[in-house]
Amino acid sequence: MTTSGSADLVIVANRLPVDRVTDADGGPGWRRSPGGLVSALEPVMRANDGAWLGWPGGTETDLEPFVEDGLQLVPIGLTAEEVEEHYEGFSNGTLWPLYHDVVAKPEFHREWWDSYVAVNRRFAERAAEVASEGATVWVQDYQMQLVPQMLRELRPDLRIGFYLHIPFPPAELFQQLPWRRQLLEGLLGADLVGFQLPGAAQNFVRLVRQRVGHKTHRDMVYLPDGRTVKAAAFPISIDVDSFAELASSPAVEARAAEIREALGNPSKVFLGIDRLDYTKGIYARLRAYSELVRDGHLDVDDAVFVQVATPSRERVEQYRILRDDIDRLVGRINGDLGRIGRPAISYLHSSYPREEMAALYRAADVMVVTPFRDGMNLVAKEYVACRLDESGALVLSEFAGAAEELKQAWLVNPYDINGMKQALLEAHRAPEKELTRRMRAMRKCVAEHDVTQWASDFLEELAATRPEHGKVVRPARRS
Ligand code: F6P
Repeated sequence: MTTSGSADLVIVANRLPVDRVTDADGGPGWRRSPGGLVSALEPVMRANDGAWLGWPGGTETDLEPFVEDGLQLVPIGLTAEEVEEHYEGFSNGTLWPLYHDVVAKPEFHREWWDSYVAVNRRFAERAAEVASEGATVWVQDYQMQLVPQMLRELRPDLRIGFYLHIPFPPAELFQQLPWRRQLLEGLLGADLVGFQLPGAAQNFVRLVRQRVGHKTHRDMVYLPDGRTVKAAAFPISIDVDSFAELASSPAVEARAAEIREALGNPSKVFLGIDRLDYTKGIYARLRAYSELVRDGHLDVDDAVFVQVATPSRERVEQYRILRDDIDRLVGRINGDLGRIGRPAISYLHSSYPREEMAALYRAADVMVVTPFRDGMNLVAKEYVACRLDESGALVLSEFAGAAEELKQAWLVNPYDINGMKQALLEAHRAPEKELTRRMRAMRKCVAEHDVTQWASDFLEELAATRPEHGKVVRPARRS
């Protein structure tokens, strides 16, 4: 058993919630990366001497733990080879496509798996050093699925939770994985395994029964040593208040007006905001929109589609191909259908700060979110949170986790181009009264389930899994 550290709550995630930046004096520094997860966990971490372990990006390996804005951060470096094999390879070339309905073909390479095991072990060992006796450790996402079991072997005194932010596939797909049993056993090191949707939890329990042979009943797994593991859904959300506050600020309001002006004051602005990822359905969505313009249902003088594509995983082959495909498609659509100063698609390959995102959400009449598969999709919830006047329409894929909550959106099958065209037109033409009715209901739903609630629901359930064991995580101090 490893000697314990001082943190009563440890978050283990692939990434640290900070980015490397160059300070004013030219030296290396850190800047907090905005994100719902860190804002949800920050108060509870402060109340529990929390520590966050993660990769800071890049290939620096000699980084010491540090405190940033009151948060204890423990960087874990990856070598260039590990970035290639663990992060780009096994995490994003094998697991990512496999867990997203095999939208792209997963690659199976034994060296990638070896690297995934080695990196997961390093994270587990570091967590074991940092966690206090009886502490709670919350492991995040698909890059870290072996950590729960590795950590339990090192530190049986810990209470361990795991949360998967992406979908968990049905058995028919998962079983392609040559290391399927090891991954399931890795997850079973946790006391509580959380998923976005109930269907994912059911997939997991069924696979454990079939592939590992443990007894299961409903959402419980019974291990031969007497331990139990619970699998349940905790749909993630956003920091609703901070988005609403941002959207209501005069600066964002002014910027939204400026954006519409810059677009030539069209009567309708359609908007897509996605990481540039093949799961997001960007290509099919732009085709659907362009056909509406081509067929005269929409006019470039009167409507525009703003597509923001945030650069992502750019060294992975499938992402490079996607970027070229989208570049070509946008060029062709605008070349065929645009007029001077009036493109059909206004395409931005860039990432933007939250203020600009909030202004875009305010400026858009129709938000279009059409992934082929998505764990949740927070952009859909952010749009709803920013529509303070209850206006605006959401066109949402049935295959995004968010569709289970945002039922008043125009729900579409992203593989059905004609169906998407129909929904885009309906959303575009909907009377104000209908838009308000739908948006009001969606806003209520988002307001009732924010990310702080998500985090406390998970941690409370985790504390209840073995009430006699370990320390209880102190609730966040409300400011
Ligand atoms: O939600 C899935 C996820 O991989 C997160 O873990 C991550 O924060 C986000 O998408 C961005 O991906 P990456 O860390 O690969 O840039």
